[in-house]
Amino acid sequence: MGPSQPRHVAIIMDGNGRWAKERGVSRSKGHEAGAESVRAVVRECRSRGVEVLTLYSFSTENWKRPAAEVAALMALLKSFVLSERKELMDQGIQVRVIGEVQRLPLFVRKPLKMLCNDSEKNIGMVLNLALSYGSRAEIVQAVRSVARDAIAGKVDPDSITEAVINDRLYTRGLPDPDLLIRTSGELRLSNFLLWQLAYTEIYVADTYWPDFREAGLNLAFEAYAQRRRRFGKTDAQIAKE
Ligand code: IPE
Ligand code: IPE
Ligand code: MG
Repeated sequence: MGPSQPRHVAIIMDGNGRWAKERGVSRSKGHEAGAESVRAVVRECRSRGVEVLTLYSFSTENWKRPAAEVAALMALLKSFVLSERKELMDQGIQVRVIGEVQRLPLFVRKPLKMLCNDSEKNIGMVLNLALSYGSRAEIVQAVRSVARDAIAGKVDPDSITEAVINDRLYTRGLPDPDLLIRTSGELRLSNFLLWQLAYTEIYVADTYWPDFREAGLNLAFEAYAQRRRRFGKTDAQIAKE
């Protein structure tokens, strides 16, 4: 038996720029088209009963892009939060953010915080937005927090387990991703969820993110259903479970 459906899907939404270049339009237009794909994919995951959808929306490294592109992305983020608010609430989606949120401009942080607070009790699906997110930075802050507690005598170093680390990551309380999707064909993680992806199934689509939508997602789910997740065990052991 295959694992059928993933509980937690994480997506590296890549290729907005290449999509735009192919059409001779600005990169910002590519990001706008990408937002349409986000809408479609959120809806589809929700209707399939996915529990958590994590979207890599802006990385710590993306701060190094030209200021005009960063500004356009921030403006788009703000308008997405405002325009999607009603539908997300109607669908019972709980919005969370992982990353160095304090680096986001206030005009983004404010509506985002409001949406996270207002959707806190929703139980339909968790939509986890990775914003100003970098996995190494996430691990560094977890290590710092454990070290502080160890020095304060609140944590015994010998009692530090994987669960203790898990609890100090931005993703605390969420299951690890079952399926990682990357669009646009690149075969790398780009500093995304390095700890959490330890046993995740990886699916790379050649499609650019703006073209991915429901159809791309359906193909990814079909591929996932064919995978055999062994977690280090043998096939014979898995068959008996
Ligand atoms: C993904 O598309 C969106 C973000 C990283 C914010 P890109 O902008 O990276 O698109 P490409 O990789 O240049 O095609
Ligand atoms: C990864 O895409 C980050 C997001 C999708 C937000 P990038 O386009 O930034 O990744 P690299 O630079 O090609 O590795
Ligand atoms: Mg890219």
